[in-house]
Amino acid sequence: MGGAMTTLTPVLTKNWDQADSFTREAYERNGGYASLRTALGMEPSAIVDAVKDSGLRGRGGAGFPTGMKWGFLAQGTGKPTYLVVNADESEPGTCKDIPLMMADPHVLVEGVIISSFAIGAHHAFIYVRGEVLHVIRRLQEAVKEAYEAGYLGSNILGSGFDLELVVHSGAGAYICGEETALLDSLEGFRGQPRLKPPFPAVAGLYGGPTVVNNVESIASVPSIVGKGADWFASMGTEKSKGFGIFSLSGHVTRPGQYEAPLGITLRELLDMAGGVREGHELKFWTPGGSSTPIFTAEHLDVPLDFESVGAAGSMLGTRALQIFDETTCVLRAVLRWTEFYAHESCGKCTPCREGTYWLKQMLKRLEKGQGGEEDLTTLNDIADNILGRSFCALGDGATSPIHSSIKYFREEYLRHFEHGGCPFDTAKSTKWG
Ligand code: NAI
Ligand code: SF4
Repeated sequence: MGGAMTTLTPVLTKNWDQADSFTREAYERNGGYASLRTALGMEPSAIVDAVKDSGLRGRGGAGFPTGMKWGFLAQGTGKPTYLVVNADESEPGTCKDIPLMMADPHVLVEGVIISSFAIGAHHAFIYVRGEVLHVIRRLQEAVKEAYEAGYLGSNILGSGFDLELVVHSGAGAYICGEETALLDSLEGFRGQPRLKPPFPAVAGLYGGPTVVNNVESIASVPSIVGKGADWFASMGTEKSKGFGIFSLSGHVTRPGQYEAPLGITLRELLDMAGGVREGHELKFWTPGGSSTPIFTAEHLDVPLDFESVGAAGSMLGTRALQIFDETTCVLRAVLRWTEFYAHESCGKCTPCREGTYWLKQMLKRLEKGQGGEEDLTTLNDIADNILGRSFCALGDGATSPIHSSIKYFREEYLRHFEHGGCPFDTAKSTKWG
């Protein structure tokens, strides 16, 4: 944990322990909506420049530079420009946007207004995962409060800027977190990915230029406007600037959300979270949900930034750190994730639709100990035929647990075959005998 972290963060989570943090009154008491007033006195292009200079990269997982994305918006199309917030958080283990929207919905609303002003959008949408009714209600209440205060609607705070903001509920499909499937769903169609390019920045919602940004990205904008691009860029690493919310779950003493500059390590985060649960040791973990290759204890000191995690063979993704101790069967974890991908595959392309089903069927058999080493070659082969051949990132993501578990835990697969079943089912102790 560097000195910068202790002095500069938390930012997004700093008011979460206040009982009324989700109300407009509390948000304003804590300095909220001051950045909006600052922004409305700026040139929109200056806000875009500030976001570019801050180095903010998309917090939904891919890490695309936010300011650059805004700069790609097609001009002179004759169609309205839209801002769409992707609040369809569904990646296994990812739990940062939902708590953020519950505890501090107004920071997102303020971010939406500033960002819409910056890109010239007069209609914005927050597309929320359908299962989280409590979040939808909380956001709707915050939006209502913002309208009442004159932060939304016509002539916002006398600036002449108009913005309508709609909270839209999805229907509970993981694929609708893919930005173009989300846009299809928002337009009332079945959510399936569109061919890219054109990217949404060129032709998005109703064919208009559209920025689709993650909740945490947009919620970071008020602090960048209020405290400056240099302040934001002073945190993190050279190419992964700023801070982020890391969700720790699983076999950890104090699971939850930990905000820190990018580049912090799992070892440091575990120190903050009380370590792996008492009496147990780390076996494997995911840096960014199940769509990123798993890591082991040898990766405890990998800086959690886009470049370092990539260099170590995985992806930073959504910073969903799922922690598994030695009592967990790797095959069973991989099977559970694969069942998820097979269920959520939208069916549009063959490698993913068929491949995730085959992977699931094979893993079910192997987890019961019915197989041999040659099956691992077949598993890798199926995954190879999905990776890079699927229409969207869901198919690629499904291969991450397969490839990485065979890489790091080949022995455990073989142990299942030797044992004729899952060794974790019969072991009385928490470890293999
Ligand atoms: P991507 O790399 O294709 O695109 C990232 C963003 O950059 C998109 O908004 C895209 O429109 C934009 N972009 C890229 N090139 C562009 C260009 N030339 N012009 C204009 N815009 C451009 O990644 P994708 O497929 O959007 O997201 C994949 C990531 O999503 C994964 O890394 C994963 O971590 C994350 N994910 C997050 C989930 C969650 O619950 N938060 C769920 C599943 C995946
Ligand atoms: Fe649908 Fe899977 Fe193909 Fe994506 S990769 S388009 S989820 S079938």
